[in-house]
Parts: sequence; structure tokens; C-alpha cells
Amino acid sequence: MEEFDWKNNITNKEEKERLAKRIALRVKDNEVIGFGSGTTSYLTIEEIGKRVKEENLHIKAIPTSNIIKKLCDDLGIETTTLENNTPDWCFDGADEVDEHNWLIKGMGAALYKEKLNIKASEENYILVDSTKFVDRLGEKHPVPVECDREKSENVMDELKKIGAIKCEIRKSNISDEPLITDNGKIIIHAWFDRIEADYEEKIARIDGVLESGLFIGYNIIVVK
Ligand code: A5P
Repeated sequence: MEEFDWKNNITNKEEKERLAKRIALRVKDNEVIGFGSGTTSYLTIEEIGKRVKEENLHIKAIPTSNIIKKLCDDLGIETTTLENNTPDWCFDGADEVDEHNWLIKGMGAALYKEKLNIKASEENYILVDSTKFVDRLGEKHPVPVECDREKSENVMDELKKIGAIKCEIRKSNISDEPLITDNGKIIIHAWFDRIEADYEEKIARIDGVLESGLFIGYNIIVVK
């Protein structure tokens, strides 16, 4: 995946820093922790990195993107994978949260491993600043759908059958080409004016889809 400059493009930074500090305080020696992606996660990992260094903590992180893996390496935080460890708990950000704690995630293009971590863990903290709360899921953001490049036309047709009102291929931030994810896939942004409980499953069943950024009915604690 192309390098996102999460460090230097942080909106609503004060609120995110407050959340980051709060979550970093939960870290205990010897834990295995799922690390989300995006700017809120980035700030949280920096705070955790400080504690790891100052208190000589031994933790293992399960990163959800190559960028976050690199950040862990830079901060001296050991990393592992879901194949080798189960997370004691995870944290991550979100792009939208509604009244049922349904989420849209993945505007940082790292949704696949984020969902794997959340599914693997019984304790998941979703850190959201005040801009993330919506009355209707899909109000401000499209649903990112990660899929095979070769299948993109079919995926867009099927998304429209489910109810998408507009679909577009997400472009790279540095060229006119499609953005390529850590998994070698592309992302389609699907806009909906209504999102129903079975949409996550319906989207996952489309031929060529790896995963979507819809998180419906997961075991999460929203931290604001
Ligand atoms: C990464 O792909 C995302 O799922 C992020 O967790 C989400 O986009 C929230 O990002 P921020 O923390 O940057 O707002």
C-alpha cells in the first residue's frame, strides 16, 4: 500500500491525542495487542511506544497495515501475527459510528486486517473523536470495498444491485492510477443512502470482494 502520511495529516488532533493517551494507559506488560491503522491509531501507538521505552514493557503488537508494522519497528515494539498469537485486546479508529455502534472504517485503506483483528479479539476499543458520530451510516463517507482489480466492473454492478447509488475506484494519492492495498487489491468507494443490517454479508459474497469497511454488529466498545 502506498505510504499514507498519517503523522502529518491529523484532523481534530487534540481530541485524538486525548483518546490516544487514555488507551495507552491500558497497556500492561506481556500483553498481545491488535494495533489499528489511521491517524488516531498512529497517535495511540506513539503514546504506547513511549511507555514501552520508559517502563521497559514487553508487549507484542498485531499491526493492521504495513505502515503500522513499520511504525512499530521504528518504536521498538515487537510485532506478531494472528497466525501466531491471539490479541488480548485491540484498538482502532473509525470513520463513522451510528447509534447501534455500526461502523464505516477503511478510509485509510487498511480495512481487511482491521476486521480480522476485531473478529479475533473479545475486547475491542474503537476510538472516535466527535466528528465521527452520524445519524445515518454512510452520511459522510462511502463504504470502501476491497476487491480484485480484474473484477471491479462486476463488483460495482453488484454493489448497485444491493443499493449503492454511486461507485468509484479509489485513486492513489500520488497519481491517477487506482490505489493498491497491502493485499495487492483495489478499493471501490460505494455510496449508499441507506445501509441495512445484511449489507456487510451481501457485499462479502460478491465475487472478487476481499472485504468491506462495513462493521455491523461487532463486539466493540466505542471510546469518545
Ligand atoms: C484505516 O483504514 C481506517 O479504518 C481508520 O481506522 C479510519 O479511517 C479512521 O481513521 P482516523 O483515525 O485517521 O480518523
